[in-house]
Amino acid sequence: MLDKFGRNINYLRLSITDRCNLRCKYCMPDGCDMVAHEDILSYEEFLRLTRLFTSLGVEHVRVTGGEPLARKGAAGFVRALKALPGVKKVSMTTNGTLLEKYAAALAEAGLDSVNISLDTTDPALAREITGSDGVVDAVRGSIALMRSLGVPVKLNAVLLAETAGTVTELARFAEEGVPVRFIELMPMGVGRFERGYDPDAALAELKRVWPDLHAVDARIGSGPAQYYASAALKAPIGFIDAVSHRFCSSCNRVRLTSRGFLKPCLCFDEGADLRALLRSGAADAEILGEIEKCVFNKPRQHCFDSPQDMTESRLMSQIGG
Ligand code: 5AD
Ligand code: SF4
Repeated sequence: MLDKFGRNINYLRLSITDRCNLRCKYCMPDGCDMVAHEDILSYEEFLRLTRLFTSLGVEHVRVTGGEPLARKGAAGFVRALKALPGVKKVSMTTNGTLLEKYAAALAEAGLDSVNISLDTTDPALAREITGSDGVVDAVRGSIALMRSLGVPVKLNAVLLAETAGTVTELARFAEEGVPVRFIELMPMGVGRFERGYDPDAALAELKRVWPDLHAVDARIGSGPAQYYASAALKAPIGFIDAVSHRFCSSCNRVRLTSRGFLKPCLCFDEGADLRALLRSGAADAEILGEIEKCVFNKPRQHCFDSPQDMTESRLMSQIGG
């Protein structure tokens, strides 16, 4: 499915819940509004829409949240997604703290890979960032468990002012073969009131420990990370600098919120209310037409550098990262 700038949209992110068991300070420090059950798409509704997206060329589906494992039945949903014709890959983005309970079911459902979010390996700092104790130990356990079940793991860390000076400890996961990606803080939702840590400064910090770090062409998954390799690391370290190094020209994704709103770009609130269509009894052809129109009109690029142009007011937890 091509948009009007010729970008091939083959990657769909599904936010299956706004809820989360953590309270990351840049995401939802005060929790989120209670959403009535019926406002959220049922798994059947997500599956019907995903089937339509695959008929238009979507091949990779990522399940996100909030925290996707905070919604009952997430593993069964992964299994159902895997069974859809045309779906080549199903992945998940999770904070990793609930994986101990669901790892086996997810592996058995055929989950192809998992991205686990962890911003620091320092327990006190992690507590300050997420509002919870025990996150670092839980995530370490989850990483080991998923790998032992044969599910590839990547680690995602948002670069925050307070994590400056601690990024090399986190990057050590790459010594054990887990790709680590540092994500520039985006001025979305409450994130706009936080201070990020400059990706170039973070890279300089890493180079002091691994002086041979060098940019490589590696591509892992469907994302836009720039990877760096070192002879001392079994996996590369990536940087996702969405704000300072715009990579909108190669963007391949659209997002569906838990309320069934199709979002073609992070920054803008324009999109398509697919839930309204679904629930008005629309036929497949009509929904397909709306999806194609929405994707065709995907904005050229984000506007993080001119925040006054941003029209999106949803929290990151309502969009799914
Ligand atoms: N900027 C960058 N990343 C963010 N995330 C949440 N809010 C922001 C933000 N403002 C990340 C989470 C998680 C993923 C789903 O999105 O840390 O890794
Ligand atoms: Fe939860 Fe992720 Fe938001 Fe943290 S960033 S509160 S883990 S949804």
